[in-house]
Amino acid sequence: MSTTVTINGTAHRVDLPDDVPLLWVLRDEIGLTGTKFGCGVAACGACTVHIDGEAVRSCQVALSDVWGEVTTIEGLGTPDAMSAVQQAWTDHQVAQCGYCQSGQIMQAAALLAENPAPNDAEIDAAMQGNLCRCGTYPRIRAAIHAASAKLQEA
Ligand code: FES
Ligand code: FES
Repeated sequence: MSTTVTINGTAHRVDLPDDVPLLWVLRDEIGLTGTKFGCGVAACGACTVHIDGEAVRSCQVALSDVWGEVTTIEGLGTPDAMSAVQQAWTDHQVAQCGYCQSGQIMQAAALLAENPAPNDAEIDAAMQGNLCRCGTYPRIRAAIHAASAKLQEA
């Protein structure tokens, strides 16, 4: 089917089967490879993007089910003007291998949009579906607190 998907503010016409996962539309069709494939079964969070601000697993959303505007890690900020979450991740040197981190950042950004000052338990609850084989969880939590403080200053 031919459909139009808005990704990071740009409308893209795509001609693909209805059931192609959004993840592959992003990576293979549009060339936005910041969103990662980890498990393909909604068990790792590496593929997390936003649809109308809601964190979703793009491996589980069929093209025909995309209900709103998609934001990926490439659209969250820019190298010159990173989002507060991306800046906190950099400041806290969160990434180790980095593979899971775009999903972690997208999940954290959605959390902070909904809850600007989450406590540790709320962070853990929101982030529990985003796995990190490198065990960067303490730095992820610290970076979320830092981003929260920065956003509240603004
Ligand atoms: S690749 Fe989508 S949740 Fe793992
Ligand atoms: S930084 Fe390596 S998997 Fe998370």
